[in-house]
Amino acid sequence: MAILKIARMGHPVLHRKAEPVEDPTAPEIANLINDMIDTLEDAGGIGLAAPQVHVPRRVVIFYIPEHRAGEEEEEEPQPLTLMVNPVIEPLTDEKSVDWEACLSVPDMMGAVPRFDRIKYSWTTPEGETDERIASGFHARAVQHECDHLDGILYPMRMEDLTLLGFAEEVQRNQDLVNSVRGE
Ligand code: NI
Repeated sequence: MAILKIARMGHPVLHRKAEPVEDPTAPEIANLINDMIDTLEDAGGIGLAAPQVHVPRRVVIFYIPEHRAGEEEEEEPQPLTLMVNPVIEPLTDEKSVDWEACLSVPDMMGAVPRFDRIKYSWTTPEGETDERIASGFHARAVQHECDHLDGILYPMRMEDLTLLGFAEEVQRNQDLVNSVRGE
């Protein structure tokens, strides 16, 4: 168990496609996931992808806390979920724009379009397959984390870079924060 160093935007490991994991039950994958859990707890984020800790493999961990959950079943809180080789299938062409932040882009936030509804499937570290349907923030978080496996950071998904800024400055402007959300 160890807290790993988090790669920041500009490091090449964040900008390449991560390799699939051949054996999700391998001990080195269990060790990687345990270290990612420690690292996420320490850093205080919602999700972490292996490339963010300098490991170019298709592994993601995330959870959806109560305060980011919605009322609908597909937006409900999710326990810490350990995904090997996750795959996303959009269930709609519709996208919504909302704020995101990333441990690899520290101190910043940006407004990012994401599919409103997705199905995602993965292999567990026990070697089982699992899948869920997600909407709202749940869908957004999974798309953000899985993008890391394809070398994509959230600013690369943004359509309006005037909505990228230092979180401290952006949050001072609550009218802007709310207007992106249509509030
Ligand atoms: Ni991120």
